[in-house]
Amino acid sequence: MNIQDYVDIKSYSTLKVGGQFRYFCIVSSVYDLTSIWTIVHTDVRYKDIPIFILGGGSNIIFSDGVLDVFALKIEIKGFEIVSEEQNYVDIKVGAGEIWDEIVSRTVSMGLSGFESLSLIPGTAGASPVQNIGAYGAEVKDTILEVEVYEIETGKVFNISNKDCKFGYRDSIFKGEARGKYIITGVTYRLSKSIPRLPDYPGIKSYFIDNNINIPTLAQIREAIISIRQSKLPNPNEIPNVGSFFKNPIVEKVVAHKIKEDYPDAKFFSVDDTHTKVPAGWLIENAGLKGKSFGKVSMYDKNALVLVNKEGATCEDVIRARDEIIKIVKDKFGIELVQEPEIL
Ligand code: EPU
Repeated sequence: MNIQDYVDIKSYSTLKVGGQFRYFCIVSSVYDLTSIWTIVHTDVRYKDIPIFILGGGSNIIFSDGVLDVFALKIEIKGFEIVSEEQNYVDIKVGAGEIWDEIVSRTVSMGLSGFESLSLIPGTAGASPVQNIGAYGAEVKDTILEVEVYEIETGKVFNISNKDCKFGYRDSIFKGEARGKYIITGVTYRLSKSIPRLPDYPGIKSYFIDNNINIPTLAQIREAIISIRQSKLPNPNEIPNVGSFFKNPIVEKVVAHKIKEDYPDAKFFSVDDTHTKVPAGWLIENAGLKGKSFGKVSMYDKNALVLVNKEGATCEDVIRARDEIIKIVKDKFGIELVQEPEIL
């Protein structure tokens, strides 16, 4: 195990923003974690230095300067069928596996559950943290349990789906249990049944355009990949962290008021009193699609995605974020909330 000092963060961040990790180490197994646990508890250099868990770095914004943390890059691999029944298969995946490689693998095995989540960047271990979701699917609907390493005690155990308290882009790992556990593996239940077609206009029109009547799992994955590639910049080419804001859920009266001026706007009813107003719509209709804020800009094909154009710092990103929040608030009276985490 190689503990490194002052490691440049940018190469571990898909937004390519951030300073340095004070300490950094790659973790390939639970055994490595046990060794680090011993080092951290015996070597005074690491006393009081918080541990920070790094996955794919695709949903986090790192601060500039030296971050006084011990960053552990989780590269625990593994893909194991733990049980199989007539209708489903349970698969345990190592936290460090690349999410989309797992999606590709399970789709080619004829297993359904992940196909709508194709091409989401990051690792399997990060999937429960923010309950990744796209095109009507959320990973929480496939998760049986999450294996964790408890930082304080060094114990390894499973947390059930229910105890993860999943919500929209949310779980205990972002809230009450933040910083308490290291996710080492996730067990998912995938279905052998015919896949449910994503209820999403863009996907339906993709199948019509391509003359596909009853799409296979592989064709659903292809459709999702094609739609994502048309709307979301590839982080390897244009640094970004996907959706930069959450889709706000507001009182129906607030949405009705906006509709008076924009009768064609498409909002989504949540319940009798609440409506989801797409953040991308708000940003676009505040005139900010493609707009530059110094070294960052809102992507010209999707107003919800903030892109780093040329060596932006975290400070540049925060300044742009605050300006966007203010402009949207002044125009629509809705306060956007940032979606990625910030460290
Ligand atoms: N819209 C605009 N202008 C834009 C962008 C979007 O008007 O520039 C409108 C669209 O026309 C549409 C609505 O906003 O009516 C919603 O857009 P879309 O269906 O593309 O999805 P989204 O709300 O922008 C969410 C997720 C994405 C996920 C897609 C597809 C959040 C914050 N984002 O985006 O997740 O891929 O749905 O399901 O929930 C991510 O989390 O990083 C991410 C990319």
